[in-house]
Amino acid sequence: MYPEASAVQQVDLAFLVIFGISVAILALITGSMLWFLWRYHHTRNPKAADIHGNLWVEIAWFVVPCFIVTAMFFYGWKSFQALRTVPDDAMDVRVTARMWSWSFAYDNGKTSDTLVVPVDTPVKLSMTSLDVIHSFYVPAFRIKMDTVPGMDTYAWFRPEEEGEFDILCAEYCGVRHAYMLATARIVSREEFDAWYAGDKAMAPAPGRELVQSYGCVSCHSLDGSEGLGPTFQGLAGRETIIEENGRARTIPASPDYIRRSITHPNEELVQGFAPMMPSYEQDMPAQDLERIVDFLVFSDREPLPDGKMVLSDNGCLACHSTDGSVIAAPSLKDIFGSVRQVRAGDEPRQVRADRAYILESIVDPGKLVTEGWDPIMPPYDTLTQQDLDAVLEYLRSISSHAEEQ
Ligand code: CUA
Repeated sequence: MYPEASAVQQVDLAFLVIFGISVAILALITGSMLWFLWRYHHTRNPKAADIHGNLWVEIAWFVVPCFIVTAMFFYGWKSFQALRTVPDDAMDVRVTARMWSWSFAYDNGKTSDTLVVPVDTPVKLSMTSLDVIHSFYVPAFRIKMDTVPGMDTYAWFRPEEEGEFDILCAEYCGVRHAYMLATARIVSREEFDAWYAGDKAMAPAPGRELVQSYGCVSCHSLDGSEGLGPTFQGLAGRETIIEENGRARTIPASPDYIRRSITHPNEELVQGFAPMMPSYEQDMPAQDLERIVDFLVFSDREPLPDGKMVLSDNGCLACHSTDGSVIAAPSLKDIFGSVRQVRAGDEPRQVRADRAYILESIVDPGKLVTEGWDPIMPPYDTLTQQDLDAVLEYLRSISSHAEEQ
């Protein structure tokens, strides 16, 4: 009927056809009941009739339902096909379900707890579950697909307008099933590209902003390219030949040297550069100076991701709160350094939540289970060391038990 109709239109059409047929049958049955009531009322038919067989009625109630069922099948099959046939140019997103959250991973390694996709682009969702069966359900896109542990399933959709749409879990999966929600954010192509290329939940590097706002980068490049001053790339510990009072000397670019180069730039001048940098001694607050030195010393080190984002992207916050409230697992607030009653199997024990304990609780959560809680957390052994470090850093920051080890 609509050869070029979208999957959404096909699904709606199938619903409409079935609904239309149902209404027609309802009207037919109710109508004939009323008509029979009137037509065969005992005042009009004082003597009961005994009727046997009617070939045409029998043919009709065989043939008509056959047509009805065939029509329902036809439209249902068409919509099913539309839902199962993924366009070749579809963008891939990997969906992971777990009790009780969704996470979305993109081809470039980006992960998110929100499904962000560009408008008018077909999107293929490859899904799996880490624990029990869930069901990925987006009413607005007319898709619902079970996610099954150890098995890959898929669905696809083509968002037609920008906006935010609800993602639900449509398969009962435990106490927090009703809260297993997420959002599909449909954005313009430009907005998506910017989001997609953006940092993978990186913590802001204040030093990087400062070297830009103080104008340092107009002479000192960050990427190794030539400028009026030496590049910042690989600066930390670099063997640097300086000229001091006309004499050449080789020194490593220590934090101290970097600090002196900012406050007294022309005293230990790097060989081959002119003494033209102004001193920042007067107009750079000590705090900014330290941040810049820090940035230059550690600029080769990848900045840690934001620990809270790692927790939220991996669905941890669906069960663990960070403000002390109880969801479905112990809150993470004040966990670092706290003393905990745990069970190793059936044996009760007391441990201090230090770095080793927390790492073990993430990678092998069934080993020591906090007293009063069920061992329902799946192991998170796919987190990178960087992610784990970031999480520990974050947990330390929301803990009042200062002394740790
Ligand atoms: Cu997951 Cu219900």
